[in-house]
Amino acid sequence: MPNVIIPPQTKDASRDSVDRVKQIMMAGLSRDTLKLVTDELAALAAIKGLFPRNVFLPPEGPTNILYEIVSDPDGQNTLYVSSANKGKETPPHNHATWAVIVGIAGDELNRIYRRADDGSSNDTVDLVLDREHVVRAGSPIALMPDDIHSIHVHSEEATLHLHLYGRRLSDLKDRLQFDLTTRKAKWFPPNPNIR
Ligand SMILES: [Fe+2]
Repeated sequence: MPNVIIPPQTKDASRDSVDRVKQIMMAGLSRDTLKLVTDELAALAAIKGLFPRNVFLPPEGPTNILYEIVSDPDGQNTLYVSSANKGKETPPHNHATWAVIVGIAGDELNRIYRRADDGSSNDTVDLVLDREHVVRAGSPIALMPDDIHSIHVHSEEATLHLHLYGRRLSDLKDRLQFDLTTRKAKWFPPNPNIR
């Protein structure tokens, strides 16, 4: 796939939006502040023509691709456009930072879990399915650093979603993925398809 040139108006509007997010986050991380961050990101996603499908192309096959749009020099507050095809799934995982996902096109089923064990060992993890939520246009999700979700793309249309994280994904050396069968947790490496 050729190199992607992010349109300058996309970069500029995204930078302005993330600057406002940083102002919001000065109140401290909480579900209430993440709600305001979600509203900010939803307003960005709603600007017509800012995230064109013919620029942010889906990958080949049942996987996803992440286009980095803006990031602070220290890797904080990194915004990606994510596109995933039908069949893309992840195991349950946390993010070790806050995350806000806003849909533009396509549906992504999220399963949100909670740990029923005391969290003291990664060898005997008890995950309980709490709820399901479909991320799509008008139906975002916000996750605290320890929140656990898995994603499952079922829609025929490839997703086009905005992902804003408190830290750059490639910097996350401490987030966990969970195996529902073995009940073990281990490091969840960064997505290899980041551009
Ligand atoms: Fe995730």
